[in-house]
Amino acid sequence: MAAVVLIGSQWGDEGKGKITDFLAEKANLVVRFQGGNNAGHTVVANGEEFKLHLIPSGILYEDKTCVIGNGVVIDPKILLEELDYLAKRGIKTGKLLISSNAQVIMPYHQVLDGLEEEARGEHKIGTTKRGIGPAYMDKASRIGIRIIDLLDKEEFADKLRRNLVEKNNLFVKVYGTEALEFDGIYEAYLGYADRIRSMVADSSLAIDVSIRAGEKVLFEGAQGTLLDIDHGTYPYVTSSHPIAGGACVGAGVGPTRIDRVIGVIKAYTTRVGEGPFPTELLDESGEQMRANGHEFGTTTGRPRRCGWFDAVIARYAVRVSGISDFAVTKLDVLTGFDILKICVGYRVNEEIIHEFPQSQKIFKQCQPVYEEMPGWQEDLTHVRRFEDLPLAAQNYILRIEQLTGVPATLVAIGPGREQTIVRGEMF
Ligand code: IMP
Repeated sequence: MAAVVLIGSQWGDEGKGKITDFLAEKANLVVRFQGGNNAGHTVVANGEEFKLHLIPSGILYEDKTCVIGNGVVIDPKILLEELDYLAKRGIKTGKLLISSNAQVIMPYHQVLDGLEEEARGEHKIGTTKRGIGPAYMDKASRIGIRIIDLLDKEEFADKLRRNLVEKNNLFVKVYGTEALEFDGIYEAYLGYADRIRSMVADSSLAIDVSIRAGEKVLFEGAQGTLLDIDHGTYPYVTSSHPIAGGACVGAGVGPTRIDRVIGVIKAYTTRVGEGPFPTELLDESGEQMRANGHEFGTTTGRPRRCGWFDAVIARYAVRVSGISDFAVTKLDVLTGFDILKICVGYRVNEEIIHEFPQSQKIFKQCQPVYEEMPGWQEDLTHVRRFEDLPLAAQNYILRIEQLTGVPATLVAIGPGREQTIVRGEMF
């Protein structure tokens, strides 16, 4: 297997960082293809915890080339802070490539993210306020600033000036706030450009060369299927394509090059931000999941909403991304529940449906139809073989496989690299 795409199968926070880190050991190249520093990947390597937002988790291995693809929106200040953070922790970052065509998050994007959220009132999306949506808006409006523009003083000055006219009009005339000044932004961003210049590359070409040479490439998704701008719970979504197809667009690689798609899926469900969530638990069970699973956002620190595993969503993720294998994460968090529930369909009015509905109005009305399974009380964190899991835990995984038609090739029972049960080759 040469090229593998790894994506989130739910609403993000499935533990992709850990699985990427685990698989990256075998990869030559690890590529981020969408999103920005709205993502937060927590990786525990050799007993040490690392929190990454923009740089692929593969960076923790010295010999891996890491790529930030064209589909990513980059806040250069955050990127440099992350590079400094890694350097301080003794991690070498010399093999990082940044796509010259990636879009740049500018200060006005963050301001706009905040103002737009406020203006939405009760319809707010609950964004991370990192400027992600406005940066993708500018990309689609064709006025965005790309990394390559930053490297050219005249080009950058011209594009920044034109953007500021438009944005300041909006800030002053529509939102009644202050205009942003050209000079401070220009100087700061030229400084960032100087520091990243040597890393900027044609990343699509670098990936192609690597695949042609028979190397292994791992495409690392951020967020999750239901946050996809087309296929997610619109409008409560992010502005990019976290599904597997996003890897092709966001890295500049053709779909025929992709050999396998790994869906990372939590053994239960979580969501941050607003929007419908049929299996959400607003009782003690939800509290128990949040506490056991440390379900607080890596990026914003917000408590995550928690609920039972939803097989309707899992099957939907399989469909829209062509998932070939699941990596089930955080199975250990379910220890201590007498009964576990799995949602196998939704009740809408008098009807039972088994597919994710197209209409969000209907999705909001969906009541989960549950199947119950016995839980287990044993600590799973030391188990290394599937057969050594309590029978109830094995059956829980087998039921997920039956309901989705996809093998759970990896099962994670803790944050460490070694806390991963491998049931087959993936890479
Ligand atoms: P944005 O990506 O900041 O525009 O936020 C849009 C929605 O996506 C909000 O509901 C966020 O909470 C959610 N979101 C963005 N990034 C992540 C992530 O990495 N994990 C989980 N949710 C996310």
